[in-house]
Amino acid sequence: MIVTIDGPAGAGKSSVAKRLAKEIGFHFLDTGAMYRCVTFACLRKQLPLTQFEEVANVATSVQIEFRGTLVLMDGEDVSQEIRRPTITKSIRPIADNPSVREAMVALQRRWTQGRDVVTEGRDQGTVAFPNAECKIFLTATPEERARRRVGQLIELGMDADYQEILEQQNQRDSHDTNRPSGALKVATDAITVWTDGLSEDQVLQSLVEIVQRKQEEMSTRTTVDTR
Ligand code: C5P
Repeated sequence: MIVTIDGPAGAGKSSVAKRLAKEIGFHFLDTGAMYRCVTFACLRKQLPLTQFEEVANVATSVQIEFRGTLVLMDGEDVSQEIRRPTITKSIRPIADNPSVREAMVALQRRWTQGRDVVTEGRDQGTVAFPNAECKIFLTATPEERARRRVGQLIELGMDADYQEILEQQNQRDSHDTNRPSGALKVATDAITVWTDGLSEDQVLQSLVEIVQRKQEEMSTRTTVDTR
């Protein structure tokens, strides 16, 4: 069974998707980490990120693996490095490159073969797994997402200006939504979950219920089909 979780930046997808996978005993696939690895590999090679063909070659040759909570790039643990702000700032031309997206989607499909997976990203229910059994679109209003980000930065001891963060986030949203391939949009058969005012535990609970309902529907269908 494939459970896709898509949604805009700051909706709290990563941590809740990870917890959901653990709770229901599924594997977890963090597709943002894959785009981060390609970006990191290109920056290391000092490759201009707008050289689309060379970047695409990196995307098809780099070995990306997930081991528990670790992300390995060509065998090296890069779990920390790929989360650095330089990577986040540089990722846009990589995630916009259609050849990179094609390579990542192929890898995502290979990785999920024969496994029960919760996969998290922007295009999982629309492009990578259009036939996924359970699709969730996790979102929150821009103001709520910006408030949460400010809270996280302050907790890390960093300065955070709400207006500035809201503006940057609006720009990212607009870019993610208008990307020529793999754009962020709600799959027609996705269930949208608004997380405004909900704690992470409450969001997790509602996701677990959605998956369980889908599993029940699937088992009823199988019972009917085999009669
Ligand atoms: O989710 P995360 O912030 O780690 O994603 C990093 C970047 O990769 C984001 O800018 C997002 O637009 C992009 N991405 C994507 N498609 C995915 C997952 C992430 O374009 N499936």
